[in-house]
Amino acid sequence: MAATKTYLTGIQTSGMPHIGNYIGAIKPALAAADANTTLYFLADYHSLNSVKDPARLRQDIRSVAATWLACGLDPERTVIYRQSSIPEVFELATILASVTAKGLMNRAHAYKAARDRNEAAGVAELDAGVNMGLFNYPILMAADILVMEADVVPVGRDQVQHIEYTADIAKSFNHLYGESYAFPIPEGAYPEGEASILPGVDGRKMSKSYDNHIPIFLPESRLKKTVRRIPTDSTPVEDPKDPDTSVPFQLLAQFAAPERTADVRKRLEAGGMGWGELKNELFDVLNTLFTPMRDRYEELIAPGSDLDDILAAGADRARARSRATLAKVRTAVGID
Ligand code: TRP
Repeated sequence: MAATKTYLTGIQTSGMPHIGNYIGAIKPALAAADANTTLYFLADYHSLNSVKDPARLRQDIRSVAATWLACGLDPERTVIYRQSSIPEVFELATILASVTAKGLMNRAHAYKAARDRNEAAGVAELDAGVNMGLFNYPILMAADILVMEADVVPVGRDQVQHIEYTADIAKSFNHLYGESYAFPIPEGAYPEGEASILPGVDGRKMSKSYDNHIPIFLPESRLKKTVRRIPTDSTPVEDPKDPDTSVPFQLLAQFAAPERTADVRKRLEAGGMGWGELKNELFDVLNTLFTPMRDRYEELIAPGSDLDDILAAGADRARARSRATLAKVRTAVGID
């Protein structure tokens, strides 16, 4: 049997995930826990670069942790922790900075995009509004990954460059100190093709920035309204319809059991099933799946729930790894 691999990913803490995140990120990450070592953390220090409201930051962190747990993350199998609980991440970030070329950081997409926005707006100082946290983001992310000696990092395609940078930085370190200690070189695991991209209620890719998303734990009545408002054309009830160009059907296909999806497809193609009926099916599927999760979420988010103990226990387990890595790294560089 092949040795199990260590999967690690960082979860952004901004706001409640939507049902597209559930299909594209949460569900596959939970499935990876069946056969691998999994470490999933809340990237709270990364959030600090953009969130300057302490109450909101505090709430976001608990809310996102509660969401993943409510969706079925088993804290016995997956180590879930806050980035901020692991001091070794920050120690390692400093050590990694000493082997990282500034030119590499200058070429980072997020940093370059911020400069391009200033240029387009006619702002003379291209670094205006860029904090050092944004500039250093790729090094902190490399530290997140390397401190746990991760092999596989499941992330979206927008993170390809960050994973490449992590590998580059690890190789620089290994080149200098590899006789004493070498980091395993991590690989990104990216969603395959279009299969996991959900349409939003307007038919474009579901995204918070388009405001076309369905938040994962909407109360039942709001979920019903949101599904009802998905635009459809005026094909009469009795006419045959094309499921493959229908947003409610594409959403249904992601969440319903295959037999139910096949049945709905047949009824649409035959004619006699109206868009309203299709939306009722979609609402029912989503509501049945998410209601128990929503209830568990409400329990976890309440003050005094198990949530904080779960995160503290995860931090203990994560630190056993990070301490071991740092001890080796310190010896390798001569700070021991
Ligand atoms: N940058 C990632 C994102 O925006 C979040 C993240 C931070 C991360 N540190 C990480 C992901 C380490 C994987 C591994 O989604």
